[in-house]
Amino acid sequence: MEKITRDALNPFPWYEMMREKNPVFYDDKSGFWHVFRYPDVKRVLSDYSYFSSAEGRGGSEENPIGASLISSDPPRHTKLRSLVSKAFTPKRVNELAPRIREIAEELISGFRESGKFDLVNDYSGQLPVIVIAELLGIPPEDRGKFKKWSDQLVSGARDNFSDEGGEYSEPQIAMGMYFNEIIEQKRKEPGNDLISSLIEAEVDGEKLSHFDLLGFSVLLLVAGNETTTNLITNAILTLDRNPADYGKVLENPDLIPSAIEEVLRYRSPVQSMFRTCAKDTEIGGHKLKKGQPLIAWIGSANHDPSEFNEPETFDPERSPNRHIAFGEGIHFCLGAPLARLEAKIALEVLFNSIGRLIIDKDARLEPIGGIVVYGVKSLPVTF
Ligand code: HEM
Repeated sequence: MEKITRDALNPFPWYEMMREKNPVFYDDKSGFWHVFRYPDVKRVLSDYSYFSSAEGRGGSEENPIGASLISSDPPRHTKLRSLVSKAFTPKRVNELAPRIREIAEELISGFRESGKFDLVNDYSGQLPVIVIAELLGIPPEDRGKFKKWSDQLVSGARDNFSDEGGEYSEPQIAMGMYFNEIIEQKRKEPGNDLISSLIEAEVDGEKLSHFDLLGFSVLLLVAGNETTTNLITNAILTLDRNPADYGKVLENPDLIPSAIEEVLRYRSPVQSMFRTCAKDTEIGGHKLKKGQPLIAWIGSANHDPSEFNEPETFDPERSPNRHIAFGEGIHFCLGAPLARLEAKIALEVLFNSIGRLIIDKDARLEPIGGIVVYGVKSLPVTF
């Protein structure tokens, strides 16, 4: 049996080998099934009656995310999703655009004079967390501790993006307590923010419970921050390695949205997702048993030549581009419009005020670690 080895910075040759030789693979050491081809990954992500997001998660007071939207199946998922969709609307997201631009410009003004900065620490890692904090209605004076918890929470939850149920750490508990207070406060004094709208949201006479509000708030941090950070960083890394495309996008900013779609495909910020078999089933002639866990390799599906012409070529004008970087089916990323908007504005503001970034030649790229989130810990650049 082939030994599974995966280079965290360049997993693509391994994906190619697995798609060809072992597209549905059972790792008897871990007991996990691994699925690599585009149609199979799509099916695992979307066919919830066979592939459960809830089994093996289990929420608790300390682990509200384990029972949240991303870790639930219908009918609970249907109810939660329609409730949160009432508050997390396209209108609310679009209204954020001017403020996102302002935040991006403020961040740049912090390093513009110096001619150098760390793209992750000073820019792409800052923007999404400030946006989420403001969206949720976190008071500005609490921004510092909120950012600290959210960083710790995300680094602890990296491999648990949807596979919660492990140990629960101090920052998680601290943040849970903090959100408890914020929710209580917003009940008394609602504002024009997402938490207040979530408290109000009602479908068929039902509202979100306090526990569900807590779970959703924490989920937004885990699911929304580092993913968007990596989309922005991966865009600059990819453009740097494709200088002609970099020049083209700099000259023609209208290409930014389609370049972002191609970064989502080519260097997907979320490489894999977990599920558990809810019933015995078959994929590609392999028999999977109820209760067995699976990893659906989104990063591999997005490089499958059965769906994408020349998948190893970065083409910022690729069309069609049916990538599944935001998932597929009922769990399709709720934050996709926000992530796209943030990445678009982040790149526009960078290109406008600074132009082309030069990645430090000697910079040693260190992968984030884990198998879910794809990106680097830091990226020193000059301009
Ligand atoms: C580039 C950035 C992002 C990527 C690549 C990404 C990717 C994903 C993926 C693959 C899923 C599907 C999970 C599954 O099938 O189990 C998902 C779900 C989700 N994402 Fe995102 N995401 C991003 C940004 C965001 C943002 C900014 C937010 C919110 C602020 C967000 C909130 C969510 C939520 C709430 C779900 C669960 C939806 C459900 O279960 O119905 N994501 N995301």
